[in-house]
Amino acid sequence: SRPEAFTQNIDVSTLVDSDGGLIDRSIYTETSIYAQEQRRIFARSWLFLAHTSQFKKPGDFFTTFMGEDPIIVTMDKTKTIRAYLNSCRHRGVRLCRADAGATKMFTCTYHGWSFDLAGALQSVPNEKAYPEDFDRKQWGLIEVPNVQSYKGLIFGNWDKDAQSLEENLGDMRYYMDAMLDRDPEGTEVMGGVMKWTLEGNWKLAAEQFATDWYHVNMSHASALMVLSPTGRGPKAEIAATPGRQFGSENGHGAGFPTHPKSRFDARPVHEYYDYEALRERLGDAAVEGPMTTGHATVFPNFSYLPVNGSIRVWHPKGPDKMEVWAWVLVDKSMPDEVKDAQRLYNLRTFGPSGIFEADDGENWSEIQAISHGFVTNNVPLNFQMGIGSERNDGTYPGQTSELYSDAAGRAFYRHWSKQMNTPAWHERTEQA
Ligand code: FES
Ligand code: FE
Repeated sequence: SRPEAFTQNIDVSTLVDSDGGLIDRSIYTETSIYAQEQRRIFARSWLFLAHTSQFKKPGDFFTTFMGEDPIIVTMDKTKTIRAYLNSCRHRGVRLCRADAGATKMFTCTYHGWSFDLAGALQSVPNEKAYPEDFDRKQWGLIEVPNVQSYKGLIFGNWDKDAQSLEENLGDMRYYMDAMLDRDPEGTEVMGGVMKWTLEGNWKLAAEQFATDWYHVNMSHASALMVLSPTGRGPKAEIAATPGRQFGSENGHGAGFPTHPKSRFDARPVHEYYDYEALRERLGDAAVEGPMTTGHATVFPNFSYLPVNGSIRVWHPKGPDKMEVWAWVLVDKSMPDEVKDAQRLYNLRTFGPSGIFEADDGENWSEIQAISHGFVTNNVPLNFQMGIGSERNDGTYPGQTSELYSDAAGRAFYRHWSKQMNTPAWHERTEQA
């Protein structure tokens, strides 16, 4: 067993007051907390891996990360999606360096060990020089034991006994369906993955997508002016914008304005959709709510924008840095020209240089850049908007609040701190 100093855990309950809405800035800056997140958040949560449309035939693969752990996702010979640690069992080289592709074998570039699609070690150059009891079966790839998907989204979990993905999503499925289930054929991703780096802790982005509508009129004022037909931007007072915000006990969150006619205005999908059919399929409340626009986070680091057709992961890269990986998601039966219009709309708004995307990244890196100062680090952040307003409103599933509130942020951090303070599967034997 490894020295205890590697796994010393900090009690985060004094840093996160999710009921009172106060967050200590050290949770964004401390290296030890970041390391604890790798063990107790990323090594035990359902993490987004890829979309099912990325795998058409056995051998198709995609490389990604779960937390900081490198992962190969591939379709095996039986057409099952499997995920492995992307690190050679010999001396640990990154086994597959391509972003995506198709292969029969993963062959290491260092000394040439080869692994098949089932992760088994198939060939070892100069194998006869190894001790007699060297057993290739013991040296297959480390497999992610739990891979499940929900309506096209594939997630992996290192905890083989984790609560199932669907159970974990719970009421969040209703909100996700407004994006994933508009089309009986489901969704697919277009093209490759857009990747960019941001200075800033991963939680700043994840939490904002779960909860923060408050920033929209201020941070995105100029973008909203560009998009508005009058060029004047938002007129309505924030408080007058009706909408709901959902926060789950598992840390997921979604926010959306509500509008009786739905509100796609200038967006390319507006012309395309048959709203009557959608109302029948998803129900009036979904069409007038989570389908209108909005953003959401599946805890911990998968977020999406249903109307912009953006799904993304905030990959942690140290306490101060994240890498954004974003896909363009479209309905499968859309005609090609609608898909393409949707792709362009996505790029214009939430691509790496999108008019909205750039505003958000700027705020997160500004928070991070100053938070290491000793005095600054001691001044807590405020998440008190709408405290106590969470309720079941009888229309939208689960606990929801007004649109402009920090309710889903408090839910996000409540779950984060619970996970951070609870031993994970890899600690269970030590605990017992
Ligand atoms: Fe992969 Fe040696 S590190 S074969
Ligand atoms: Fe934003």
